[in-house]
Amino acid sequence: MGKLCLVCNCPISPFMTFGRQPIANRFLDATSFEGEYYFDMDVCFCPNCSMFQLANTPDPEEMFNDSYAFYTSSSRFMANHFKEFARYVLEDVVDDKIDPFVVEIGCNDGTMLKNFKSAGIRHLGIEPSRNVASVAISQGINTRVDFFSPNLARSLVSDYGVADVILATNVICHIPDVKSVFEAVSILLADDGVFIFEEPYLKDVIDKTTYDQIYDEHTFLFSINSINYLSKLFTLELIDVLPQSTHGGSMRYVLARQGKRTVTDRVFSQLVAEVNSGLTSPHTYDKFKRNCEIKRTELLSTLKNIKSAGKSIVGYAATSKSTTITNYCSITTEYLDCIFDTTPLKIGRYSPGTHIPVRDHVHFRNYNPDYVLLFAYNHAAEIMEKERDYTLNGGHWISCIPGLEIQK
Ligand code: TMP
Ligand code: ZN
Repeated sequence: MGKLCLVCNCPISPFMTFGRQPIANRFLDATSFEGEYYFDMDVCFCPNCSMFQLANTPDPEEMFNDSYAFYTSSSRFMANHFKEFARYVLEDVVDDKIDPFVVEIGCNDGTMLKNFKSAGIRHLGIEPSRNVASVAISQGINTRVDFFSPNLARSLVSDYGVADVILATNVICHIPDVKSVFEAVSILLADDGVFIFEEPYLKDVIDKTTYDQIYDEHTFLFSINSINYLSKLFTLELIDVLPQSTHGGSMRYVLARQGKRTVTDRVFSQLVAEVNSGLTSPHTYDKFKRNCEIKRTELLSTLKNIKSAGKSIVGYAATSKSTTITNYCSITTEYLDCIFDTTPLKIGRYSPGTHIPVRDHVHFRNYNPDYVLLFAYNHAAEIMEKERDYTLNGGHWISCIPGLEIQK
């Protein structure tokens, strides 16, 4: 049977495949290589509602469980970003509200909500991965370990009342049943409340060919047009859109109940700008497929040339995104000796699918490789500052997306 769009139920078909992919964040020990879970990562664009989506998604329990290896607080830059986000919410959104109630969907280790806690704001985080949620709980952040759903929203309304602000960052695009999230929001949101979320922006991915943003957890890559369509299904309205530099280019979407708040001119102008740039046209995606193939060929040829000159290469930052690159390009220990990373849950383990050892970043300087393949271009400034000595001593950085500049 053909595929149906997860948003509008229109028949859709994949425009490209990234082949067999593992769970992007499941770093393995050497005894677990056998029986590793894989799925076919085919991607579709819906010409009706403009939603960019995976054709198949692994079961959410495969991805968001007690061994979920991503901690928001691992990046100082992201922690600062969330502090600034919280300031925007408190000063620009709930400014004059008495005793506002703020809910965050997917609060991870509480990096965002701790800003609300310290401001004495009533808050609640919803987080399905117990290991990261327990960090939030240990810091006194009010947290519920659960998936966000209409049933949960109803129980939250009876336990706490409606929410003045519902927040989410890098999480809504993870949820295949995105319509149930929007339904839950429409249950939980106060009449004059706002729903604010930010996610990697499709236009940045297409313009920069950052195809590594496509992995199991990213069921969707949103655009202003697709969010506009989705909002209307739940009588919500897009009232503002604010571009962000995070994750190689993200968009902050601000929604309210229809007719309750003023819609900024930015929403209208950006909806039109997306259409004019071809983002809602299927041809753009055929071109994107070709661009991905070109980037793969270029990266492999760079790595091959370095290896045939007898030089060493390591990876830097075992990001979830790197799983797409290493598996799509078949980058194994044939090219990379290891990947250096800061995350305790990844160190000592092996990368999903390609089984490259992950080592503690503290050993990077002594290792002193000839070349470093940087997977975390979104954290480049922070990493370049940390590894300045390596660069000053003549070390070489390679971009995992050829042509994408590394901000040194
Ligand atoms: P992200 O791209 O999904 O935010 O993942 C960030 C990954 O990069 C995470 O595994 C930690 C790693 N990392 C480092 O190894 N060193 C660093 O300085 C930073 C900021 C991240
Ligand atoms: Zn659709």
